[in-house]
Amino acid sequence: DLLQEIKRLEDLFTVDKAKLKKITDHFVSELAKGLSKEGGSIPMNPTWCMSFPTGFETGRFLALDMGGTNLRVCEITLTDEKSEFEILQSKYRMPEELKSGDADELWEYVADCVQQFIETHKLTDEMDTLHLGFTFSYPATQNYINHGILQRWTKGFDIKGVEGEDVVPMFEAAIAKRGVPIHLTALVNDTTGTLIASAYTDTRMKIGCIFGTGCNAAYMEDCGSIPKLAHMNLPPETPMAINCEWGAFDNEGKILPKTPYDVIVDQDSPRPGQQAFEKMIAGLYLGEIFRLVLVDLHDNKNVHIFEGQNIDKLRKAYTLDSSFLSMIEEDPWENLSETKDLFQTKLLLSATHPELELIRRLAELIGTRAARLASCGVAAICKKKGYETCHVGADGSVFNKYPHFKQRGADALREILDWPEKKNPKDEDPIEILAAEDGSGVGAALIAALTLERVKAGN
Ligand code: BG6
Ligand code: GLC
Repeated sequence: DLLQEIKRLEDLFTVDKAKLKKITDHFVSELAKGLSKEGGSIPMNPTWCMSFPTGFETGRFLALDMGGTNLRVCEITLTDEKSEFEILQSKYRMPEELKSGDADELWEYVADCVQQFIETHKLTDEMDTLHLGFTFSYPATQNYINHGILQRWTKGFDIKGVEGEDVVPMFEAAIAKRGVPIHLTALVNDTTGTLIASAYTDTRMKIGCIFGTGCNAAYMEDCGSIPKLAHMNLPPETPMAINCEWGAFDNEGKILPKTPYDVIVDQDSPRPGQQAFEKMIAGLYLGEIFRLVLVDLHDNKNVHIFEGQNIDKLRKAYTLDSSFLSMIEEDPWENLSETKDLFQTKLLLSATHPELELIRRLAELIGTRAARLASCGVAAICKKKGYETCHVGADGSVFNKYPHFKQRGADALREILDWPEKKNPKDEDPIEILAAEDGSGVGAALIAALTLERVKAGN
């Protein structure tokens, strides 16, 4: 009966070529809707990052990365050599309690980390005012570059008193208390940072993506195609980086092939109805989808999985992260002994060989679906912009560590865009998704540098 179950799961989680194309087409129109005056479910946030770097930017900057998993503070030096930089950095743990605490605790903690970094590296002796690029990787409405009203928390964050508020003065107040001479020059999204950092070393880079705890992308639009900015009277050809916040694609549930497990992930999250696309793709959710399927199979009297065993550990929400699925997918099919050990040690469950085969297939299905859906977003931006060839810079734990994610994504792009098979496996695809430069380090510094240049030029 497990074979039959595998077949059912395959039907549930497989997204075929025709469906990928339909999703992509709908995505293209949703991107445009997000830029319209009326707006749509994809926020398409203008970022006020208004040019690509030339490679000749110089100067020393601080960068702060508040992405979700870690907090990182960096000192970046953009050197006189074209597209070269030096980086000094420290990582700080983002305590779990903070993610559902109060705003004050959050900003005090962030400011402490920044202060500690500056003192440890004695940076204030060397520079008067430190210009900071703050990578705040959540959806924010920006009326200018050092401004950002948090639209809503994503990635499981639920800190009171921040949604609907400008995060810049909150951060600045905590910094001012400590007397550290920092000027927040640019508030940046990790995708915009990734786009700009990647374009610094490769001018073919047109899109920045994050496939990590969350999932999102940024690209350069021209102001003439952003009706919601028409009141600003910016020249139509002026570039404007757009942080899509595409995690919100299809919040209205029109096209994504959601399974009952996706519905539970959404309902049990702090923000039901939000981030529909992200919840099927991002690292934060992959392990949870997998866990929900296994619990359901166990509880279904017609399926015999972990029969007679105590599955209490498996019942705990978010107990499995995407690295758990990565390990399963890395285990050779022949004996699946690593997977057996993982279940034993982490969940105190003993799995038979047929159960291990189901587990492995399920991980593949969830990982493959994520990569294929992610490619719909990339294809949609390329279609909207008319890019037939370009590079896409990608970062994040899923992109960098999840087995086969890159290949599965590339295969899906080929299907969506009807590319012929490669003649030589070494040939480049017309659109390649490649590992990005460090977006929230060098990208944030570059955006701060570009902002200072713009201020100097009086724009
Ligand atoms: C990092 C980038 O490498 O990846 C960050 O520098 C980004 O800007 C992060 O937020 C996303 O990955 P994850 O897996 O930590 O969410
Ligand atoms: C979430 C955030 C978005 C971020 C992405 C990747 O989708 O809303 O701002 O870019 O995660 O970190």
